[in-house]
Amino acid sequence: MALPVNTDPMQGATLTVLGIESSCDETAASVLRRAPDGMLTLLSSIVASQDEEHRPFGGVVPEIAARAHMLKLESIIAKAVKVSGVQYSEIDGVAATAGPGLIGGVIAGLMSAKGLAMSLGKPLIAVNHLEGHALSPLLSEPCPFPYLLLLISGGHSQLLSVTGLGEYERLGSTIDDAAGEAFDKSAKVMGLGFPGGPQVEIWAKRGDPDSIPLPRPLIDRDNADFSFAGLKTAVARAYEASDKSDLAKANICASFQRAVADVLGDRTRRAMVMFRKRVGDGPQRFVVAGGVAANTELRARLTAVCEDNDFKLIAPPLKFCGDNAAMIALAGAERLAAGHSDPLYAPARPRWPLDKESAQANPASGHGKKGPKS
Ligand code: KG4
Ligand code: ZN
Repeated sequence: MALPVNTDPMQGATLTVLGIESSCDETAASVLRRAPDGMLTLLSSIVASQDEEHRPFGGVVPEIAARAHMLKLESIIAKAVKVSGVQYSEIDGVAATAGPGLIGGVIAGLMSAKGLAMSLGKPLIAVNHLEGHALSPLLSEPCPFPYLLLLISGGHSQLLSVTGLGEYERLGSTIDDAAGEAFDKSAKVMGLGFPGGPQVEIWAKRGDPDSIPLPRPLIDRDNADFSFAGLKTAVARAYEASDKSDLAKANICASFQRAVADVLGDRTRRAMVMFRKRVGDGPQRFVVAGGVAANTELRARLTAVCEDNDFKLIAPPLKFCGDNAAMIALAGAERLAAGHSDPLYAPARPRWPLDKESAQANPASGHGKKGPKS
């Protein structure tokens, strides 16, 4: 996703940007200020989760998500602006997730942003949600380019080389389900509640990670791709064959979590070799982002992989790991500072690869059960 040519020279100005996020099941708005030297001040970050709405269904229901975003957006945006202490007239640009994501929700957020941008007479920045995640470490600490990014959320699992704003190369990605999806679906099979990831982690604490033999898909392959669909199916089979007791659930959760850590650790190790070939030897940075990065066992594994390979682990605080609008405001501010904004007819895009190569190879590229994802 290369930066278009400069359209509006806002370099050199302090920028106050309103960000809006609505691509999945969090309705979020944030106000962020960026100084000309790149210093960031987060003035507000409001996130309204839709967990309650989706819980009865054991997963995110796109139509319910879109409706909930429509109902919540106005008040969440108003709250973000109020908490920030800025006046609407002080906002220099309105950034919103324009994809990839559940299209109804993306449209709701993007339309709100367009309406605001138009009424304020300020530029719109149509942000790629993945770019928000890719830049999210900057919200908590200085993180100069280049770095290797592992993005693991409910919708995405990929390893990206991040060498600059708009400069991303995908080194590996899931060929089927996302890591979070595997956690959520495994939890659903065992009736553990929604969202599944945190539940699996809680249950895993009481189980034996070596008790149930589960596959490690694609491990040791000479690339950095992942696969989680087979693992998810193996969990369903193991549960079906078990006595469905609490101990069985705990053992399956612990074994599943260990398998995910093994796979992600191995794939990350491979990606580190690929990354070094591109950026050179010496110490490097490794960023882990996305909701699954909250998992303690996984973090411990990634910490060990980083130590072995001379990478510094940067794990943004949990509030910036999951979906939030601060990262969207940040991506918007960085783009605006680079002189880029988007027309009011910018489309909402259910699929939108971040890296140029897969975007060129297949404009709807990436992978997923229903076809390419991101
Ligand atoms: O990034 P995120 O908030 O939203 C998107 O999917 O974009 O990630 C949510 C995902 C869910 O699949 C959730 O189950 C998973 O992150 N998750 C976890 C944990 N906390 C959240 N997975 C494993 N362990 C956790 N502690
Ligand atoms: Zn996300």
